[in-house]
Amino acid sequence: MRTPGSNQEDKKAAGESAAALIKDGMVLGLGTGSTVAWTILKLGESVKEGLDILAVPTSYQSEALAIQAGIQITTLSQHPVLDLAIDGADQIDISLRAIKGGGAAHTREKVVSNSARRFVIVTDGSKYVHKLSVPVPLEVLSFAFNLVVRRVAEMGGQPILRLGKMKDGPVITDNGNFVVDAHFGPIENPQGLSAALCSIPGVIEHGIFCNIDEVHVARGGRVEIIRR
Ligand code: A5P
Repeated sequence: MRTPGSNQEDKKAAGESAAALIKDGMVLGLGTGSTVAWTILKLGESVKEGLDILAVPTSYQSEALAIQAGIQITTLSQHPVLDLAIDGADQIDISLRAIKGGGAAHTREKVVSNSARRFVIVTDGSKYVHKLSVPVPLEVLSFAFNLVVRRVAEMGGQPILRLGKMKDGPVITDNGNFVVDAHFGPIENPQGLSAALCSIPGVIEHGIFCNIDEVHVARGGRVEIIRR
C-alpha cells in the first residue's frame, strides 16, 4: 500500500463499508490504492464464507491482492458491463467530482468505473473537500511528452514528470506510459478542465472523475454515505 499509517482506521472503515453493498452474483470493478484494499480484503473474507462474485481489477497491485484474497478475476472482454465499481480517490469535492491517479492507475480506473452501472468512492474525511486542488495526474504517451508539457503550461498548469522512488527515471504505468502531474492550484471548473485535458494529443487519460454515484467518507471511525 502506498500510504501506510495515514488515516488507516478511517480508510479501513470506509473501505469495509462499501463491501456491504456487494451481493451474490455481482461482477465488480476493483480500484487501486490503500483504501479500496480494505474493501478487497473484506470481500475476500465474504468469499471464504460463500459469497459468489467476479471482479475486474484496475492494476497489477489490485489483481494480486484480489487473487490473494480468493476473489475470482474476470476481464472486461468477458464482462463488458459491471454491476458496481469501488475505488479510492486522492481528493473528492462536495459535488462528487474526484481527482485520482496518485498510484498511476487512473486510466484503467476510468475505463472500469465507466463500465459499471454504479461507481462508489471510499475515502477518509481528509480528502473530502469544497474545492479540488491536488495536482491532476495525466497518463502520457512518452512520444508526446514535450507536447503535453507545453500544452499544460499554456493552460496555466505546472507539469511535473513523475519520477520513480525505487527506480531511476520516470514512473512507467501498468500500460507502459509516463505520468505527468499537472499542478493547477484550486480548480474552479473540473468539467471544463477535464475537457481541455482530453483535447491534448498524447494524453491517454487524466485523473479528473465526474462519474461518481456514491461516496463513503469515514471520520473518526464513523462512515457517512453521500449519494448523487
Ligand atoms: C490510484 O491510481 C489512485 O487513483 C487511487 O485510487 C487513489 O490514489 C487513492 O489511493 P489511496 O486510497 O491509497 O489514498
